[in-house]
Amino acid sequence: MNDFTYYIPTKIHFGKNALDYLGQDAKKYGKKVLLTYGGGSIKKNGIYDRVIEELTKADMEIFELSGIKPNPRIESVREGADICKKENIDLIIAIGGGSTIDATKFMAAGAKVDFDPWLFISEGREIKDALPIFSILTIAATGSEMDTGGVITNEETNEKLSTGSEYMRPKVSYLNPEYTYSVSKFQTASGSSDILSHLFEIYFNDNTSMHMLDQMMEALMKTVIKYAPRALENPEDYEARANLMWASSWAINGFLSETSQKSWSCHPMEHELSAFYDITHGLGLAILTPRWMEYILDEETVDKFVDYGVNVFGIDKNLDKFDIAKKAIEKTSEFFFDTLGLDDSLTKIGIDESKFDIMAKKACNNSSIKGFKELKPEDVKEIYKMCL
Ligand code: NZQ
Ligand code: ZN
Repeated sequence: MNDFTYYIPTKIHFGKNALDYLGQDAKKYGKKVLLTYGGGSIKKNGIYDRVIEELTKADMEIFELSGIKPNPRIESVREGADICKKENIDLIIAIGGGSTIDATKFMAAGAKVDFDPWLFISEGREIKDALPIFSILTIAATGSEMDTGGVITNEETNEKLSTGSEYMRPKVSYLNPEYTYSVSKFQTASGSSDILSHLFEIYFNDNTSMHMLDQMMEALMKTVIKYAPRALENPEDYEARANLMWASSWAINGFLSETSQKSWSCHPMEHELSAFYDITHGLGLAILTPRWMEYILDEETVDKFVDYGVNVFGIDKNLDKFDIAKKAIEKTSEFFFDTLGLDDSLTKIGIDESKFDIMAKKACNNSSIKGFKELKPEDVKEIYKMCL
């Protein structure tokens, strides 16, 4: 078991009235607020109007930056950091999903330095300060609303890279499940796949001593498996949306990862797919995950797959351990492709072998992914091939 320090200071307002607190919270940080958001979904579903109403009541001076794309680009980050400096912004409020929140995190850090914020990511320059951030979450997926990380794309270099800092963790996040009613079926499915993957990345690990956390992860997996189909069936199922939303935050806020001694595996492989082909993160993960599971299943890893199969899918524990593991992987595939309805191959989403070599090398950062099973570039390439 690892030693750890528990510190997850994001204040959460959860539920239908979450935004009632926005004005009073915002005032504590100053007067000038920058609102950041994406391609306009918040204007169609009324969230934007509600936010403006609350901030106006609180007498805040409002600035805006819109157009943040999925797989957020470094250009948006630069633009946001410049606005913060020019207008002396006190607080940034991100309204949206992981893309908007991630871009906002780097704007907040970029506002405090006089160099290009891409250098935080490309050169690993230390983040020593950031403007305070709030997030108003509109899609259950990445957990960016309660974590310290962010992922940014640089199209010029075909790079999608991440880094994190405690300074970038949102101070307050507003989680109203009703705000996710308008999320499309595809994005609901992709977000659910992302939540599951965050759990898998930690759960599939050598360290078996943290029973309590393993059981919590299994409970969160079962929550996604139970409620994602309900949200797809009826987008306005409050209970389903609420369970997915809270699961998204807890899958990655740092609480569960205390048990983990290994790096993540599917995420670095997926980030290369998004970097080169601009695909949706959760879709890439769904295609990769069952193949990665198949590839790493062996005598060393099988016991964890048995726990997963028995505890999450209720597979008969008296079967042969490899049969249990294989059934569990099959059930994982069925969930992603039949239940969630996501495409089941790279070919179907227009990705061929042509960039496998370079993507595999980059996923391994020119060395290897030191995950549950170590993966060298040739292993990653093999997994990509299995996804064709
Ligand atoms: O831009 P708008 O118009 O708002 O539309 C968005 C976007 O097209 C739409 N959407 C969001 N909420 C909606 C809605 N449409 C209708 N109604 C709503 N309520 O959904 C689309 C996707 O949005 P995006 O923010 O890209 O989704 P997601 O939350 O899945 O974020 C994905 C990004 O986060 C990164 C991913 O790599 C990807 O770049 N990640 C961030 C992590 C973190 N910070 O810890 C961890 C993750 O593993 C992940 O890598
Ligand atoms: Zn993810």
